[in-house]
Amino acid sequence: MSARSIEEGRARGKTVLVLHGPNLNLLGSREPDVYGSLTLAEIDDRLRALADELGVAVEIVQSNAEGELVDRIQRAAGSASAIVINPAAYTHTSIAIRDAVIAVGLPVVEVHLSNIYAREEFRHRSLIGDVAVGQIAGFGVDSYLLGLRAAVHVIADARRHSLKTRRPQKARRPA
Ligand code: DQA
Repeated sequence: MSARSIEEGRARGKTVLVLHGPNLNLLGSREPDVYGSLTLAEIDDRLRALADELGVAVEIVQSNAEGELVDRIQRAAGSASAIVINPAAYTHTSIAIRDAVIAVGLPVVEVHLSNIYAREEFRHRSLIGDVAVGQIAGFGVDSYLLGLRAAVHVIADARRHSLKTRRPQKARRPA
């Protein structure tokens, strides 16, 4: 068994919450030149297949409502070991989602289908990025799959990725 799969083995049986934010229910027909032609159901199928391969469970939720996403993040504290989130447009606006991420203290991987830094300037700022373990953007559906792999890696190596090492130093405003 490779060192990598031993490490992944330590996450076996754990649950990863996958959250899709607003308008991602329209994937497939929504701006396919930007977001690709896969539907959300197809992305979810790929996530479930990868989760099976990695030996973890996934709970997958899409919501257009900021409060619902906050509720799900809060509830994850008791049920999940990590969160993969595409906060969609709330990435750029939601202090509530940022605060929920900090409050639950679970490792969070932020993902985006598109490369938000190669798009309009208002998409260059993420309010989640500096409270997440990391961010993966620009790889289409692979952003989610890489995000799930990253979450499993982080669960297996929880000590190295503890909240202390990734909490923002000061209550500074993101640039
Ligand atoms: C997105 C990028 C956001 O800027 C946008 O509002 C989305 C999708 C992405 O996955 O590329 O809805 O998060």
